[in-house]
Amino acid sequence: MSALATVLAQAKERELHRTPVVAGDDAPLVVYFSSVTRNTDRFVTKLPVRSVRLPLKTTETAPRIDEPYVLAVPSYGRPGGAGSVPPQVVKFLNDPVSRAHLLGVLGAGNTNFGPLFCVAAEKVAAKCQVPLLYKFELMGTDEDVEKVTQGLDKFWQASMQPRA
Ligand SMILES: Cc1cc2nc3c(=O)[nH]c(=O)nc-3n(C[C@H](O)[C@H](O)[C@H](O)COP(=O)(O)O)c2cc1C
Repeated sequence: MSALATVLAQAKERELHRTPVVAGDDAPLVVYFSSVTRNTDRFVTKLPVRSVRLPLKTTETAPRIDEPYVLAVPSYGRPGGAGSVPPQVVKFLNDPVSRAHLLGVLGAGNTNFGPLFCVAAEKVAAKCQVPLLYKFELMGTDEDVEKVTQGLDKFWQASMQPRA
């Protein structure tokens, strides 16, 4: 079995049994919001990363993240696209410490929304001036898992290089 096939097989196994991903301390950190429909949660738990899920309710305390991370955010727009960034994510990013450590964004959405596909991720990336790394639909496909695993690995290594 190729290394990639092994990663995908392990991902399927984790999804089936909901076993937590075992990732080393130097693995990328993904912070994400996922509503009760759990699409984004299903996607992120297939990645070989460390992850932190934001609380479902805005009344709960948002975690403070004081190390570099990538944010995965689904869109929840009203008609016309207003208010597409989930308030739980807005609350999290309103903490300057957490915001300062954001390296990039992964967008989750549904292509039924046409030009508003992953609009929340676009907004966060523009506002925080970080790259929008990838967009995926619902819980993503095996191909999305493969591309994000490889892309994130490269991005993470490049981001961790000391600046000259
Ligand atoms: C009320 C509502 C509004 C949505 N608005 C958008 C949108 O503007 N753009 C988009 O790409 N997806 C939109 N979606 C789709 C969600 O982003 C998508 O289902 C996502 O996978 C949800 O992730 P979660 O299950 O992890 O919360 C919307 C879904 C709902 C229920």
